[in-house]
Amino acid sequence: MKKHFFYISLFVVLLYSSCINMEEKVKPPTPVETSIDINKVIVLLPEAKGIDLVNANCMTCHSLRYIEMQPDMSKKGWDKIVKKMVKMYGAPISDTLVVNQIVDYLVTIKGK
Ligand code: HEC
Repeated sequence: MKKHFFYISLFVVLLYSSCINMEEKVKPPTPVETSIDINKVIVLLPEAKGIDLVNANCMTCHSLRYIEMQPDMSKKGWDKIVKKMVKMYGAPISDTLVVNQIVDYLVTIKGK
């Protein structure tokens, strides 16, 4: 009789400890992102001449989504934007040849 009691209590203890382990395995729910940070949005612009210059110079401060979101513009319009990036916001593009190649690329993909 004493032996039975021993086995039963052992069984109960083992059952209890396995429950504790199971509880530990339940992972807390991972938080769900509820908003989109525009700078985390990865945008791939269309392949065309000059894309390397845009990738190298135009995504250090913001997402390329800024370019994608613009309406189609004339060469004059894009020129104004790129010069604004350099003069007002300090985009480090000192070479006017590079500025012109970037403008040409932008006109190719979103010109009118
Ligand atoms: C030194 C940082 C910097 C660099 C480099 C930069 N930009 Fe910007 N850009 C800005 C800022 C600041 C804004 C305004 C952000 C805002 O309004 O939230 C902006 C806004 C824009 C916009 C939105 C329209 C507008 O007129 O404000 C476009 C399009 C744009 N940039 C294109 C470009 C292109 C093309 C290049 C590469 C030649 C470039 N940016 C490089 C800082 C930069």
